Amino acid sequence: MRIAGKFPNVRLRRVRNSEWIRRLVSENNLSINDLILPIFVRDGSGIVESIKSMPGINRYSVDKLNLIMNKAKKYKIPMVALFPYTPKNKKDKFGTEALNKNNLICKSLKFIKKRYAGIGVMCDVALDPYTSHGHDGVIVNKKIDNDKTINILVKQALLQAEMGCDVIAPSDMMDGRVGAIRKALDKRNFKNVSILSYAAKYASSFYGPFRDAVGSKKNLKSDKKTYQMDFRNLNEAFREISLDIKEGADMVMVKPGLPYLDIIKSIKDNFKIPVFAYQVSGEYSLIKNGIKNKLINDEAILESLMAFKRAGASAIVTYFALEIASKIKKNTN
Ligand code: PBG
Repeated sequence: MRIAGKFPNVRLRRVRNSEWIRRLVSENNLSINDLILPIFVRDGSGIVESIKSMPGINRYSVDKLNLIMNKAKKYKIPMVALFPYTPKNKKDKFGTEALNKNNLICKSLKFIKKRYAGIGVMCDVALDPYTSHGHDGVIVNKKIDNDKTINILVKQALLQAEMGCDVIAPSDMMDGRVGAIRKALDKRNFKNVSILSYAAKYASSFYGPFRDAVGSKKNLKSDKKTYQMDFRNLNEAFREISLDIKEGADMVMVKPGLPYLDIIKSIKDNFKIPVFAYQVSGEYSLIKNGIKNKLINDEAILESLMAFKRAGASAIVTYFALEIASKIKKNTN
């Protein structure tokens, strides 16, 4: 690429001089169509409970989901992502509760699909919200057993599809799970249920507040480095992505977000598939607390989200979804 021109003929500040010209020459834009809203669900009724480690984010009992879903509908957020806060007494070594037809995710799916037909719902496929040890898979001889875990994940995905889930999102990082889930979905005639694979999911410290939000933090005694990716690697992400595409992923996710923009960009340039980014809980809480403590101002939210668009993300899972949607809507009125 050749950059033509020379000062003083060229003065780049001419295209920055006023707001209207900046709007005209802007290369990227964030729209509400880019946003996916994560929602935490808990048991009980009549409860909206704030999450300490994530200021401004709540857990909702199923009967209160309308409070947050009405906002998603008002702003025309295309999709929500559901995460359960499973009561301790329902957790066991095998994550059995993941397959309970009446678990929090199933109840939420029924509640939402009945009342908000126009909004897509995505569900995580992984066992960590349900296991007593906080891992995404089952443990055999002190190791996370890949193939035994897949057997359960397939059942979990089928149950979610049965309950009306639109987008199945395996976030567990077991090898071969996308293919197994696609095959099972097709066999049961869930041909229109799509798979968003957390293909490049790194073992990250930035998940801390989320683990607190779903109640797996205290249970987890070790890291997830035998299944989630090593943050030193890019080529490994290519291998993960190409396998998942072959196995039937419709969209792929890179996670965490901001520290991994290079991964998003490289994947976007090399694979012609929608790439989603996850601005994870740790990123959210750092920015949010920075704003709360007046270290930075709240324009940092848009700046952080625009970075994903620059890198080539088609959509972004972000806990800022409602906050930024309200701003976008105000600016376009
Ligand atoms: C579960 C899962 C995690 C996140 C989404 N799904 C945590 C983990 O893998 O430990 C993290 C999301 C966030 O931090 O916002 N497999």
